[in-house]
Amino acid sequence: MTRKPKNPNVLTLKESRAIIKSNLAEMKRLEKIKREKKTLEQFTTVMKSNDNVIEIDNLETCFFTDNGVVRSVNKISFDVPKNSVVGLVGESGCGKSVTSLSIMQLVQAPQGQVIGGEIRFNSDELGFNEAGEKICYDVTKMPTLDMCRIRGKDISMIFQEPMTSLNPVFTVGYQIEEVFYLNNPEATKEEARQKAIDMLSLVGIPMPETIVDYYPHQLSGGMRQRVMIAIALTGNPKLIIADEPTTALDVTIQSQILKLLQRVQKDCGASILLITHDLGVVAEMADYVVVMYAGKIVEKGTVYEIFDDPKHPYTVGIQKAKPSLASDAEEELYSIPGNVPNPINIPNECLFKGRCGKRCGKCEGEYPREIKLSETHSVFCHLYDDEKEDN
Ligand SMILES: Nc1ncnc2c1ncn2[C@@H]1O[C@H](COP(=O)(O)OP(=O)(O)OP(=O)(O)O)[C@@H](O)[C@H]1O
Ligand code: SF4
Ligand SMILES: [Mg+2]
Repeated sequence: MTRKPKNPNVLTLKESRAIIKSNLAEMKRLEKIKREKKTLEQFTTVMKSNDNVIEIDNLETCFFTDNGVVRSVNKISFDVPKNSVVGLVGESGCGKSVTSLSIMQLVQAPQGQVIGGEIRFNSDELGFNEAGEKICYDVTKMPTLDMCRIRGKDISMIFQEPMTSLNPVFTVGYQIEEVFYLNNPEATKEEARQKAIDMLSLVGIPMPETIVDYYPHQLSGGMRQRVMIAIALTGNPKLIIADEPTTALDVTIQSQILKLLQRVQKDCGASILLITHDLGVVAEMADYVVVMYAGKIVEKGTVYEIFDDPKHPYTVGIQKAKPSLASDAEEELYSIPGNVPNPINIPNECLFKGRCGKRCGKCEGEYPREIKLSETHSVFCHLYDDEKEDN
């Protein structure tokens, strides 16, 4: 009897056991490093530029699953300048949320681990070194206790679904006061309550004196999202991460919430990392855009560079796939053919090549290097290998 050939997509029991064993060893090693006592010098470094609030440098985050290692964020680098909105776009599963969770040190451990790179957070708590460089925290190495001091205060997050992020058993006022006490542990009960009322009024909630005693289930979706924004702003954060902040809301409420975010960003001087797959939202809100595909950055630049002069075939494709009022109703909507590659065992080559209409001989080689087209615009694609670099 001839043996059936092995299906390369199915793991044998032996292979599966070997993966689990090596994953367990690696997770144990990484968790041990996290628990080690560290001195301030071991989790601080210097900013590339003091004009940035956060600098992500070669960040690698993966999940150790029983099927293999999922490289959700694969060596990405980008900056969020002070007082700006950076839009992070890409299709579902490309690693946008894992990037934001890595910044917050909220990746689901022990399976999820940041295994490389730096996340430099420009905190006011740290001064300058002798060479005049701005000292900053490296979030990837920060002990959990130190991270708890800046999370929610200096860096805050607005999640997609406010009902699951707000605590159903506490009033919205209590949840705002909790963040206020983080910054002002000496504050009196009256001061904290007044702050909660002020914050609700800042985000446009009517009758804040009454709503402050409401529980999340007594509010509409739009009001809950406003409460989330109020909580996010209470600590005067330098960076707000908004992960799909309007996806769970209807269109009219969406635009109110986006306008509110834009207003508070200007008034409070915070920066926003806006994660979305809605290009319309990005075009309206963002100063800079970072385009991700399969855990990698494929293009980044100012909003004008990305929308008026997109270079990467994937960026061009997602813009073509955006529905427009001007398009013919009979015309079928464009969609990029094919699927995102399997995130396990990702090869070192262009990950878009299976779906790219511009694929050429060079694309069979290694992953394209970063090609700088201007000081702010860069692309990772072999089509531009011969481009003269500005920098
Ligand atoms: N807890 C987990 N365990 C295993 N894999 C995970 C886990 N969380 C995320 N991933 C994987 O990481 C990759 C990136 O996921 P992520 O949630 O960042 O995508 P996303 O870009 O935010 O997508 P969406 O637009 O749908 O929110 C996906 O392939 C996902 O399957
Ligand atoms: S490197 Fe080649 S396959 Fe990849 S996006 Fe560019 S042209 Fe397409
Ligand atoms: Mg997501």
